[in-house]
Amino acid sequence: MSVELEKNGDIAILRLNRPEALNALSFQILEEIGSAIDDVARMSDVRALLVTGAGDKAFCAGADIKELRNRSLIAQKRGAELGQTVFAKLDALPIASVALVNGYAFGGGAELALACTFRLASQAAIFGLPEIKLGLIPGYGGTQRLPRLIGEGRALEIIMTGRNVNAEEAERIGLVNAVVEGDLMEAGIAFAHRFTRYSLPALEFARCAVQRAHELPLAEGLRVEADLSTLAYQTKDAEEGMAAFEEKRKPEFRDE
Ligand code: CAA
Repeated sequence: MSVELEKNGDIAILRLNRPEALNALSFQILEEIGSAIDDVARMSDVRALLVTGAGDKAFCAGADIKELRNRSLIAQKRGAELGQTVFAKLDALPIASVALVNGYAFGGGAELALACTFRLASQAAIFGLPEIKLGLIPGYGGTQRLPRLIGEGRALEIIMTGRNVNAEEAERIGLVNAVVEGDLMEAGIAFAHRFTRYSLPALEFARCAVQRAHELPLAEGLRVEADLSTLAYQTKDAEEGMAAFEEKRKPEFRDE
């Protein structure tokens, strides 16, 4: 197995473990990532997912270039669809995911990080969508998720030049939420714990409302927000949260 799934308290950790190939995404690894995400979706006791890569050089160097060669067009299209489907599972998870980018995040590796809810980077992290240098373009969601995150002009420049983006620039342009100086895993767990203590239904409604913003005209998005905020209002956790405010105590959310 080139993908490891473990638990640290209420946090699931998915680690790509193919350091000899800089955690490149063979089709087998993609399938394994898909089943690991399915396993996480079935865990009722986890409140966040961290995604990272084994070794000290790479988060993930992208699609396995050696596997990409000499394929039929249909096989190539199915491969892109597989990567897109696997990464889309992160959006569909009821819990948020955090990519811990510990080195190179190129091509499909950058696209895996982009599919996570949040991204933290070590100071050594380097992002890039270098497909153009191979005569290709991103195929696992990069052309869609990068402009949504950092804007069309910046995204097109990164995609059309294939240039590298270091950790400092990644933070400045909003590609990552933060750059971490110390231990990335510790920082990732601490980052996740900043939201995991809140009501899971409320967290899920918030993610869902924001995700819909990309798909809907403003008026419809506002209707979705009104509906989801009313659903949140109907939870016992909302009752508890507002009561705790009035009683000047910490709320005890029960995900109800
Ligand atoms: N696919 C397959 N093998 C890869 C790989 C990849 N994407 N990236 C690295 N490797 C392998 C290398 O072939 C090498 O294996 P060998 O020792 O057997 O030769 C090993 O990992 C170590 O790599 P390097 O010796 O190249 O390490 P480096 O430190 O000199 O360079 C690097 C690191 C700059 C990341 C360089 O490996 C590199 O440029 N990799 C390719 C990055 C890339 O182009 N990614 C995009 C792929 S296409 C894609 O992802 C399409 C999509 O949208 C899904």
